[in-house]
Amino acid sequence: MEHPSGTDGTNGSPDDDGDPLFRYDRPIFRDKTLLEIGHLPDPDKVVGRDTQMQRVANALNPAIFGEAPTALLIFGKTGTGKSLTARMVTERLKPEAAERGTSVETVILDCGEETTETAAVKTIANKLNDADETGVTVPLRGLSKSDYYKRLWTIVDTMTDIVFVIFDEVDMLEDDEVLRTLSRARENQKIVDSRVGIIGISNQLDYPDNLSERVKSSLQHTDLVFPAYDANQLNEILERRKEAFKPGVLTDDVIPLVSALAAREHGDARKAIDILRIAGDIAKDEDAEMVTEAHARQAKEQTEINRVRELIDGETQLAKLVLSALVLQAEQQEGAVPTQAVYEQYTQIATAMDTKTVSERRVSDILKQFNFHSVVRSERVGRGRGRGITNRHRIIEDLDIVKKALSRDADITYFE
Ligand SMILES: Nc1ncnc2c1ncn2[C@@H]1O[C@H](COP(=O)(O)OP(=O)(O)OP(=O)(O)O)[C@@H](O)[C@H]1O
Ligand SMILES: [Mg+2]
Repeated sequence: MEHPSGTDGTNGSPDDDGDPLFRYDRPIFRDKTLLEIGHLPDPDKVVGRDTQMQRVANALNPAIFGEAPTALLIFGKTGTGKSLTARMVTERLKPEAAERGTSVETVILDCGEETTETAAVKTIANKLNDADETGVTVPLRGLSKSDYYKRLWTIVDTMTDIVFVIFDEVDMLEDDEVLRTLSRARENQKIVDSRVGIIGISNQLDYPDNLSERVKSSLQHTDLVFPAYDANQLNEILERRKEAFKPGVLTDDVIPLVSALAAREHGDARKAIDILRIAGDIAKDEDAEMVTEAHARQAKEQTEINRVRELIDGETQLAKLVLSALVLQAEQQEGAVPTQAVYEQYTQIATAMDTKTVSERRVSDILKQFNFHSVVRSERVGRGRGRGITNRHRIIEDLDIVKKALSRDADITYFE
């Protein structure tokens, strides 16, 4: 259950003391799933994507007659509705095609998970396969790449007339060979009865520049760019998900505020929805009756802390110590902090924490690593004539946010 309560005896089933262990009224939310990641909203809840939907539909349209769809590459910043639109249009195509005797299946491939060609082929085959129908299995390991391809061809030919493969975050693929092989499967007579439609999605706007020439020439595709949402559109998106909350609990200014906050960050609908959901969670945890502007601001900060935590999450304890040292120094001095100052601060903390210290060289390497994760930006600065150069470092993110992200780490407590 969501909420332990001892405050309202009428709402729970009493335990031996007469106090309810659970409560059966649902505070704040009526249907929180509307705000959850992965929820596919009803078509009437989608805002400002008519043109994009239409263009996706145009590219896929031939599939209705069992003909080859045009490959599609969709670009746009994060949270601009790319995955949503691709999923929605392929879902809507399915019954329309079925009416005309064409079977359509869709496989969504998360390329951040399946980064190699073999992993991609294996996963597509597995997702599409029904072993009873095809008589083919797709073992998780043990086959060569070409064997996985062979099984995939059998599966495609048996299972469906058209299969759309949505390569979500396609830029994460180690190489684009799988796009080429799939797009030419019919031409190369790997499959006989069916066709494969390719939809690539990326938030790297320059992704097509990185495609290999071989893929470019074999993948005759349409490019589609999704613009960011403005505050009004975000407002409308949130308005249409208001039913996630119980009637009357949202203060009037919450949705406009959340939309404005998210619009400032390149108009990310996911961010807007996240902030609204977290604002509700905070209100719920506080036992508040309504969700207010203050909850929304706290929620916004929470999403920022979460994002920074994700950036530093995989880092070692040592690396987090070094980052903390940089934060402390950055608070004390204007401008970028020299490696040596970071190092001195680090040894102080490490000594206070009774942990062994590492060399300045090692600390310098760790700072470079944070550059890679875009938490820190380092620059090389001359120390004056004949005195060599030094590296200086600054934190790109808001200092306070980084501090909060670090200090919630169980073993790092020196900020408090
Ligand atoms: N036009 C819209 N109307 C209603 N909800 C939307 C709209 N666009 C996006 N959303 C919602 O915002 C969230 C993010 O959308 P989506 O996953 O499609 O973004 P994306 O462009 O694929 O982002 P990323 O590049 O980060 O994967 C989803 O919960 C989606 O339902
Ligand atoms: Mg997406």
